[in-house]
Amino acid sequence: MAELVVDDLTVEYHDAGQPVRPFDGLTFSARDGELVVVKAPSGGGKTTLLCVLAGLLSPAKGSVSFGSTVITGLSGRELLEHRRRTAGMVFQSFNLIASLSAVENVSAPLVLTGTPARTAKSRALAALEQVGLADRASFRPGRLSGGQQQRVAFARALVREPALLLADEPTAHLDSPNARTAVTLLREFVRPGRLVVVATHDDRFLEVADRLIDPSPARAA
Ligand SMILES: Nc1ncnc2c1ncn2[C@@H]1O[C@H](COP(=O)(O)OP(=O)(O)OP(=O)(O)O)[C@@H](O)[C@H]1O
Ligand SMILES: [Mg+2]
Repeated sequence: MAELVVDDLTVEYHDAGQPVRPFDGLTFSARDGELVVVKAPSGGGKTTLLCVLAGLLSPAKGSVSFGSTVITGLSGRELLEHRRRTAGMVFQSFNLIASLSAVENVSAPLVLTGTPARTAKSRALAALEQVGLADRASFRPGRLSGGQQQRVAFARALVREPALLLADEPTAHLDSPNARTAVTLLREFVRPGRLVVVATHDDRFLEVADRLIDPSPARAA
């Protein structure tokens, strides 16, 4: 079992010389096999928190550990390994590559880390199947709906089987039926050995959350 422990976490940005702290002294823990929902209004520090968990941003204070790894203590090769292998981030804007087909988008992270092309393709097809898009594998993002593009982005994160799956506002660009599909899919991605963290202000996630985190109250402290 891997435990996520966020302890006394503070991030500080500087805006025109003024310090901005989206959260200050944030503390919580969660376990693999759980769906954690980080719910806060716009500017409440959701993307910031996911970036720290992904190893993309260093805090001013505090620590984050996952299993035996202190994420906030990583550097160099170990940090790269965390970003590439342990954490899978699905960005709000999908960040798909327009000139590549769905299966090429999904296999890209595997190819880039040295997986042979044939293996990468079969794993990418399996990931697309998992999100219900096997029949769109050859389509480029421009020929897919917003909900389908979102599912390609999920598949791209899942293909490396991350132990920590991070999704930033996964329903922000989706209409209601597609948003419901995304909520259901994310719930299905939770399993022993995997922790899913969703940053959102969509109330639909409250029904499926195992744990609800609001980073903002500590901000006023
Ligand atoms: N690079 C930066 N430099 C300065 N301030 C920043 C930077 N990134 C974020 N902030 C500030 O930190 C706060 C939290 O931003 P963050 O993007 O984490 O919020 P959010 O909850 O994801 O918001 P949204 O729901 O709008 O995506 C905001 O006040 C924002 O202006
Ligand atoms: Mg955000």
